[in-house]
Amino acid sequence: MKKIDVTTKATVFDNVSQLSTEDAFLIQKAIEARQKAYAPYSKFNVGAAVLLDNGQVVLGNNQESAAYPSGMCAERVAIWKAGSEYPNMKVLKIAITAASENSTVDKPVGPCGACRQTLSEYEINQKQPIEILFTGEVGQIVKTESLLSLLPFSFDSSYL
Ligand code: THU
Repeated sequence: MKKIDVTTKATVFDNVSQLSTEDAFLIQKAIEARQKAYAPYSKFNVGAAVLLDNGQVVLGNNQESAAYPSGMCAERVAIWKAGSEYPNMKVLKIAITAASENSTVDKPVGPCGACRQTLSEYEINQKQPIEILFTGEVGQIVKTESLLSLLPFSFDSSYL
C-alpha cells in the first residue's frame, strides 16, 4: 500500500485586466452568454464561451425547466453546440462565468462533474488540451491548462 498525492496546477488572476487579450475577450463573451441564461428556478445564471481553432466563438448558457432535472448546464450547451456545428474543429479554450440573482457570486465557479466528464471527451479525442477559465460575477479568475487537470482518475473509453 502506498499513498499518492494528486495535484492540480492552476493560475489565479485577481481580475480580468491580468488576462491576455484573448482570454479577456472570451470571458466577455461568456458574460454575454450568461446574460441570456434561462434559469428562472435556481436564479443562478451561467454562461460559457468556447473558442475553436478556426477562431469561431460558440456560446452557451444554462437552460432550466419546471421539471428540474431536465435542465442543462451552460458548459454542455456550449460544447455540444460547438460539436454539432463544427464537428472536426479543435476546442482551444472554454470560459465560464456565473452570477446569481440572490447574491453576488464572488468566487470562481468551476464546471460541475458532469460537464468535466463531457469536456474530457472532446479533449481526449482531439489529443490537445482544452484551457479552462472560470470565474464568478466578480473577483478572481482561475485558469487551468487542460480539462483533465480538473478530473483526476477520470473515466474514458479505454475502460469499455
Ligand atoms: N450550472 C451550470 O450551468 N454549470 C455548472 O457547472 C454548474 C451549474 C447551472 C445548472 C442550473 O441551471 C444552475 O446552474 C444551478 O445549479
